[in-house]
Amino acid sequence: MEVIKNKKTLQDFIERQKEMGKKIGFAPTMGALHKGHLSLYEEARKDNDLVISSVFVNPTQFNNPEDLEKYPRDINRDILILENSGLVDAVYIPEVADIYPEKTESKHYDFDGLENEMEGKSRPGHFDGVGTVVEELFRQIQPDNAYFGEKDFQQLAIIKKMVEKKHLPVKITGVSIFRAENGLALSSRNQRLHEDRKEAAKIIYQTLVKVNDWFRVITIPEIKERVTDIFDHQQGMKLEYFLIADENTLKETDFFYKDRNYRAFIVVVVDGVRLIDNMHMD
Ligand code: PAF
Repeated sequence: MEVIKNKKTLQDFIERQKEMGKKIGFAPTMGALHKGHLSLYEEARKDNDLVISSVFVNPTQFNNPEDLEKYPRDINRDILILENSGLVDAVYIPEVADIYPEKTESKHYDFDGLENEMEGKSRPGHFDGVGTVVEELFRQIQPDNAYFGEKDFQQLAIIKKMVEKKHLPVKITGVSIFRAENGLALSSRNQRLHEDRKEAAKIIYQTLVKVNDWFRVITIPEIKERVTDIFDHQQGMKLEYFLIADENTLKETDFFYKDRNYRAFIVVVVDGVRLIDNMHMD
C-alpha cells in the first residue's frame, strides 16, 4: 500500500494511474478507523481497479473546537489497519495546506435546503466544511466512484447533491450502516465510551427497530412520545433529537404518504459522546 503524504506526490501517482486507464474507487475518512470504514473499501473493491483511502481530520467541519481537539487521532494505527485489510492500494494523508492552501475556511454551498435540516440545525457550518473538503479531495484524487456510509445519511445526501449541482464526474454509492453485534452503529466516537456504556448504547438501535415496528401502526407524534419516554429512563443518556423524515427532502414529517420513503433519525449523547444513527422505515 502506498502512503502518500502530500499533494504533489498524489498528483504524480494519480497521473500514472489515469495513464494506465485504472478505474479509481475512493472513500475519505477522518481516521480512527474501524470495520465500518473497511466495509466502504470492501464495496469499492468490487467495482474499481484501484482503491484509495484518505485520512484527514478536517478542521472546517467542526463547529465546536473542543470536539476537534478531542477527535481521536492515531495515524500509525490507521495505516496498519488499512495495510492489514488488504483492501486499499493507497492512502492519502494530506497536510492542512494541501487542502487549504490559503485560508483554512469553508466555501459556501447551497444544497437545496438539505443542509438546513437535522445536523445542519445542530451543527451550523458543518456541511459547508464537509462539502469543501470532499470537493477538494475529489478534484485531487479524481475518483470514478466514491463511497460514503449511510450512518451519516444527511452527509451522503448532501454529497450526492453537490456532485449533481457541480457536475462532478464521480458516482456516489451509499454503504449500509455497519453495526456491532449488539446493534450499536460503529463510529470513531465509540472509542470514547467505556465498554459498559457501549453495551448500554445498544438501546439506540433497539429503539429504531421498535420505531420501525410502530411505523404505520401508530401516529408519528405517538412514536416520538414513546421514544422520548425510553430515553427519559436511560441513565447518562440525553436524547438530542429524534424524528422521521422523507428520505429525499430530509424534511421532518408528522404523517406519511404511501408512495414515499421515510427514515428515522436519532442523536443521543451518551456520557458526553454524541452518537448518531438512522434506519429506513419499511
Ligand atoms: O464522514 C467523515 O468521516 C467526514 O465527514 C468526511 C466525509 C471524511 C469529510 O471529512
